[in-house]
Amino acid sequence: MPNDIFDKVDNKKELSKADIKYLLEIENKDELQQLFNKAYDIKSTNIGKKVWFRGIIEFSNICRKDCYYCGIRKSNKTVERFMMKEEEILEGAEWAYKQNYGSVVLQSGERDDPYFVDFITSVLEKIKKLSNGELGITISLGEQSKKTYRRWFNAGAHRYLLRVETTNTELYKKLHPEDHSLENRIACLRSLKEVGYQLGTGVMIGLPMQTIDDLVNDILFFKEIDADMIGMGPYIVSENTPTAEYIDDYTAIKENQYKLALKMIAATRIYLRDVNIASTTALQALKTYGREMGLKAGANIIMPNVTDTKYRSNYQLYEDKPCVDESSDLCMGCLEGRILKIDETVGLGEWGDSPHFKKKTGKIGN
Ligand code: 5AD
Ligand code: FES
Repeated sequence: MPNDIFDKVDNKKELSKADIKYLLEIENKDELQQLFNKAYDIKSTNIGKKVWFRGIIEFSNICRKDCYYCGIRKSNKTVERFMMKEEEILEGAEWAYKQNYGSVVLQSGERDDPYFVDFITSVLEKIKKLSNGELGITISLGEQSKKTYRRWFNAGAHRYLLRVETTNTELYKKLHPEDHSLENRIACLRSLKEVGYQLGTGVMIGLPMQTIDDLVNDILFFKEIDADMIGMGPYIVSENTPTAEYIDDYTAIKENQYKLALKMIAATRIYLRDVNIASTTALQALKTYGREMGLKAGANIIMPNVTDTKYRSNYQLYEDKPCVDESSDLCMGCLEGRILKIDETVGLGEWGDSPHFKKKTGKIGN
């Protein structure tokens, strides 16, 4: 029974690897509900019954990386590439600011050419200006030099999302070409911390060849790297990618992927307690109410898409991505309603830094 494990949690005793593994292997319906309830309690106590929105602008799918699982990888020639104009990105940010979202996320494929680095610097400065310094900015722009990270930090970004994807070196190698390196990715995470960013990382859940032990190690890694936020979601097949070839019938494993992702959220909440955890769009791709269930399993962040709809269909990292056709206004209305329905409130007008980060620095965003 998970009760012994929960006693440990209540008594603030460190969980062992075996405890975390037990939680991730729960199949029994009642135990599963107990797990989600426990994680939800810990979230309510440490953060409140509150969801923070981050308006996400996926502004370009041009990418120099070639991860085998990703729909917008460089070698996928079926994708029409786009890059939004500066004004279009600023419009999205302004829209989020006017909706009182509190913060935005800028995400794109990875590029490190000087034009791109300058472009981002200017966009960051302009977003800060149009929001009188009020809008928080998270960026998710891949592996960069420390110098670039510092430039973007000085231009106004204060949080960075860089998923480690998996902490198993062998698995990482199987899912990436030779010139992609887990070591470098982890070095980037360390640089980001040194520069002063609030650090977000995460993994994909249910990758081909990934084991439960791998996922346990991923959770331990989140603690070791001292992450302030976690963004993770189920692996979803993307046609025309090499990783898809490992999967015979995705529909047959969909339910499992979904359940495992919820268990990861819950176990991470229980182990890390006070970090921000996103309920990601990939969960909703698997189940209509997936994102709400993520909140019920301990997540506290949602990233509504505020990208202009004309670009959304070209930012398909995986199949069945939801909200591709809905306008940002519709997404906003639909999401807020959904959150109120599960008895939570939306933290409007706040940066929504994790209590974990605040405790470390004594800093409060706004
Ligand atoms: N399924 C789920 N998530 C994916 N990502 C990329 N491809 C897929 C996929 N097929 C995730 C990676 C990346 C993030 C932007 O999208 O974790 O870091
Ligand atoms: Fe690496 Fe898209 S190419 S995640």
